[in-house]
Amino acid sequence: MAKDKITVVGAGNVGATTAFIAATRRLGRIVLVDIVKGLAEGKALDMAEASPIELSQQEILGTTDWAATAGSDVVIITSGIPRKPGMSRDDLLATNAKIVRDVSRQVVEHSPNATVIVVCNPLDAMVHVAAKVTGFAKQRVMGMAGALDSARFCYFLAAELGVSVANVQCVLMGGHGDDMVPLPRFTTVSGVPIRQLLPQDKIDQLIERTRKGGIEIVNLMGFSAFYAPAAGAVQMAEAILRDRKSLICCCAYCDRQYEAGGYFVGVPAILGRGGVERIVELDLDESEKMQFRTSLGHVKELVAKVHALLPDL
Ligand code: LAC
Repeated sequence: MAKDKITVVGAGNVGATTAFIAATRRLGRIVLVDIVKGLAEGKALDMAEASPIELSQQEILGTTDWAATAGSDVVIITSGIPRKPGMSRDDLLATNAKIVRDVSRQVVEHSPNATVIVVCNPLDAMVHVAAKVTGFAKQRVMGMAGALDSARFCYFLAAELGVSVANVQCVLMGGHGDDMVPLPRFTTVSGVPIRQLLPQDKIDQLIERTRKGGIEIVNLMGFSAFYAPAAGAVQMAEAILRDRKSLICCCAYCDRQYEAGGYFVGVPAILGRGGVERIVELDLDESEKMQFRTSLGHVKELVAKVHALLPDL
């Protein structure tokens, strides 16, 4: 069977780390593409040179030429400007919307059958742009945010409780912003509800830290996180390429589901070779529904801004 082909767009921190993790997992042939001459070539060569030691994927190509990406099974879009201190994810909208539009045109031209995972911010609105421009079936376009945000929540809980991260599972919904909706009612340590293990005020603190998880890192180092975002993108790509049917929180198209009315927003979804194969509909209580609606309202505002900016979308 021919090996799968993965294109990672953008050879910055997130893109390069995504390519490297994908290589260590031996997910398939990897193409790293960037507009900056030499950047993707250099990083890909460096990764390939690690392959005899890591026994990672040796077929990694860095390029500025989209032709080399032809026929990709999965395309992960990481290109765009990242946050600096004092910026919200929404401040990136005007620049990144145009970048994602241009990249998406290349994806349609060179990999018309690909499944697309968007990673750049503001995440939910950028997924909308990629879906509009590619015109791909909605289940083949999605965004990586819930995987990252839920990993953060799980890590904070595991550290607080002194348990293995492997035992903590959570569900986190809504847009990738400060009003994201971690759901403690659906969060457990190997099946034990978190509310049996921690007092509510501690859970609330960890939820708040999760919501501000991105900016905590920006404030520490002056630019955006990349290890955990890259790990989240690879987790999704792996679920798709290996047809895992994994339940992963991600930004997926919801119409009737959660009464979203045709928007891409963070929900629990089953990922497999068909992309987003199913949205898992939880029975949310009134407070959870209200939080989700607030977060969705924010996503809708961003999408409206995108359309004002790119009237031809
Ligand atoms: C974060 C950025 C990548 O949450 O959105 O770290």
